[in-house]
Amino acid sequence: MEVVIAPGDQLARIAADAIETLLRSQPDSVLGLATGSSPLKVYDELARRHVEDGLGFGRARAFMLDEYVGLAPGHPERYRNVIETEIASRVDFAPDAVQGPDGNAGDLPAACAAYEAAIVGAGGVDLQLLGIGTDGHIAFNEPGSSLASRTRIKTLTQQTREDNARFFDDDIDRVPRHCLTQGLATIMSARHLVLLATGKGKAEAVHQLVEGPVSALWPATIMQMHPHATVLVDDAAASRL
Ligand code: GLP
Repeated sequence: MEVVIAPGDQLARIAADAIETLLRSQPDSVLGLATGSSPLKVYDELARRHVEDGLGFGRARAFMLDEYVGLAPGHPERYRNVIETEIASRVDFAPDAVQGPDGNAGDLPAACAAYEAAIVGAGGVDLQLLGIGTDGHIAFNEPGSSLASRTRIKTLTQQTREDNARFFDDDIDRVPRHCLTQGLATIMSARHLVLLATGKGKAEAVHQLVEGPVSALWPATIMQMHPHATVLVDDAAASRL
């Protein structure tokens, strides 16, 4: 696992460089997109490069990590809408090139299975962007998640609902209780993992990720087993290393 400690703006540029290198050499790449605040500067940088440098996404495809269950289709915090706003609508992805798990499906287990099949059908993810929760979750794989898990329904922990209440008018009662999330084994199938973490609040999770034992109690630690994982952290997030 490669760990890079640098200021936040530089981390975003490093992640964008990795995506640009991939897209320029392999325009039909499959990207893995993450939500949360951590990747936002990366999306800003990619949008800038699309406009100013002609970085093209027209032949690429993308899969999202996770989705809340039961948010109305137009809800601004529905991850499908967040990804549309933050990156998809700012570059030139083809229609339907960006997919996410369907948190409003009538049959959620079937939607999870279909999503796994879609990722496999696309040839797998070439580069997966990731953030990390303060409790060490990646996507919505909360502590205790099976290290062999695939896309499935999960119950959000109190900690994650508190952390994410900031996106729901600081009202935890508005934060959904369930989600669909790629599993840890799904994420590990991606060929390159790029995780971003900034701020003191992530220091313990980053400490466990890099130096802790591989354990379902800190789900991100499974990344230690990945042959090509890049961890991008600022000084504050690295303060316990
Ligand atoms: C959510 C997302 C994760 C993300 C995490 C951290 O729980 N499901 O994919 O990594 O938040 O978010 P942030 O980057 O805002 O700290």
